[in-house]
Amino acid sequence: MQHQHREKLFSLFDDNQNGVVFVQGKETMYRYGTDYEFPFRQESNFWYLTGVNEADCSLILDLKTEEYHLFVPKRDAQYAVWHGYVKSKEQYVEEYKPDHLHYQNDVLKVLKELKPDVIYCLDDEQAEFIEDLDRNFTVETESLIDALTYCRVLKTDWELDQMREACRVNNLAYLEVMKAIKPGMYEYELKAIFNKVQIENGLLQDAYNGIFASGVNASILHYVENKSLIKDGDLFLMDAGFECNGYAADYTRTFPANGKYTDIQKGIYNSVLTGMTAVLDTIKPGVKMEDLHMLASRTMMEGLKDLDIVRGDIDDLMNENIFALFFPHGLGHFLGLDTHDVGGYPKGVDRIDRPGIQFLRARRDLQPGMVVTIEPGIYFVPAVLYPALEDPAKNKFLNTEKVASLLNFGGVRIEDDIAVTETGFENLTNVPKEVDEIEQVMNA
Ligand code: GLY
Ligand code: MN
Ligand code: MN
Repeated sequence: MQHQHREKLFSLFDDNQNGVVFVQGKETMYRYGTDYEFPFRQESNFWYLTGVNEADCSLILDLKTEEYHLFVPKRDAQYAVWHGYVKSKEQYVEEYKPDHLHYQNDVLKVLKELKPDVIYCLDDEQAEFIEDLDRNFTVETESLIDALTYCRVLKTDWELDQMREACRVNNLAYLEVMKAIKPGMYEYELKAIFNKVQIENGLLQDAYNGIFASGVNASILHYVENKSLIKDGDLFLMDAGFECNGYAADYTRTFPANGKYTDIQKGIYNSVLTGMTAVLDTIKPGVKMEDLHMLASRTMMEGLKDLDIVRGDIDDLMNENIFALFFPHGLGHFLGLDTHDVGGYPKGVDRIDRPGIQFLRARRDLQPGMVVTIEPGIYFVPAVLYPALEDPAKNKFLNTEKVASLLNFGGVRIEDDIAVTETGFENLTNVPKEVDEIEQVMNA
């Protein structure tokens, strides 16, 4: 399938030019100065172009002939002693179908034979070794990353299928955790259940460090310690996903550890859910992520106003950035070979310098083939709210007593993976998010 990705990339370059693309794959990584090998995970651009999830490889794409050269490491018997199986050249060809297969130490030799005038590289570091080539040529490190980003943002059907599979397994894993959780368990026990379902289904690599946060921990956006005891009455925020052939799933659900939301938990949860629903009702090609972010923010503020947590005119609450006290991250991001995938900010588009929305990771019109997360949330972050409670410009919009009573609440986030289609979107996430449905699953 990666041949489609290479063709897409070729189509972006002038094929009359005497140029090549060179990309270095990832090498084996070790923990500090030891021989402990980290589990290998290919660099995403290299994986996109080759499908090769093996260390120490590189590629050349000849822009004139559109030929694909794959370079693989020459492994010896010692390697086999420690790592097992060593592939023959024929096996590499059979598996990855390059037009030409070489050993890694022949990169310069092949470049000499191809005599390119321009060599496109991802960055200066990847281009360094090419200085040894005794020939006149230009190294270009600007346009390749832009071209690859352009390609990766718009998914092919095959890529969407990988994401559907990552999501299919993620759906199962979420349900298992929802059914298993009980007060008195440790957060990591739920992580163990989640990971077991992924691994049993053949997904071996997490897409990011999973967040399994109970109670107040849920207000920490990147809480990954996952070792607190879960208490009766806690909400549990789970943000986790694995990869299928490199393609990530990234969901969040927030549910009551004891299977029943309290009234205030339900109220705040439903404020987030209403924000989510408003966004999902709006998503279609042409819609801008920043507009969706503001729509979710406003809808959630209306929910907090109904709960008498914030007070005042809704336009004032928005204009004075009160929403950012409770929703301090972006509404979502592109998803693909990386969880926070490439392409969120095309050249010339800058971040919006405004509280809350400044952390939005994607700012462009949605188009069919894009996959994004939608992940509104409301959090009670003491480090944000203590100063706000003291600040007259902010506390006039807060029910200070109620906010102060919620400083241990934690937070609620709901996150789905959305593939934009010609007519709207396909929701790749299929895990209950209505209060009744969640309680039903948890108490079945
Ligand atoms: N778990 C990271 C994110 O949702 O963006
Ligand atoms: Mn997430
Ligand atoms: Mn996300």
